[in-house]
Amino acid sequence: MAGSITFMMIKPIAVRRGFIGEILSKVVEAGFRITALRMTKLTHEEGEVFYEIHKNKPFFKDLTDFISNGPIVVAILEKENAVADFRKLMGATDPAEAEEGTLRKLYGTSKEANGLHGSDSDESALFESGFFFSFHERFTDEGHVIIHY
Ligand code: CMP
Repeated sequence: MAGSITFMMIKPIAVRRGFIGEILSKVVEAGFRITALRMTKLTHEEGEVFYEIHKNKPFFKDLTDFISNGPIVVAILEKENAVADFRKLMGATDPAEAEEGTLRKLYGTSKEANGLHGSDSDESALFESGFFFSFHERFTDEGHVIIHY
């Protein structure tokens, strides 16, 4: 059954430390369906576009340096209430403040170098999904290419 979508990124620090498999397992165990998936790497400029919403924040330069410094894994996840449920699974932005068992607690080292990104709204989920995936890379449960959302 189709649900709403969210966008997930496993950041360079978690990829480098070998956590891709563990993270994807936990995401699926939590009831999300992976409807698009790719390993890639952002240029610095692409990182600036992806995180444009933060362009006036003091941490923008560090954030875009960090996000473009190695391979990432990106995915579109589907589930009822996907945005809020995935944010709950990730935990607080700062791993030090995240609840035990949450993905950011397990796979990040600091607020600046947290292990994952997840969309903060349905609007962001659409922008972020479209940033990385074209329609012929997005699938339904039955394995069909998605024509529209
Ligand atoms: P993310 O969910 O990817 O969205 C923006 C990112 O900015 C956030 O996770 C953090 O990793 C990063 N960031 C760096 N410094 C800060 C800060 N002081 N406050 C909030 N986010 C920060």
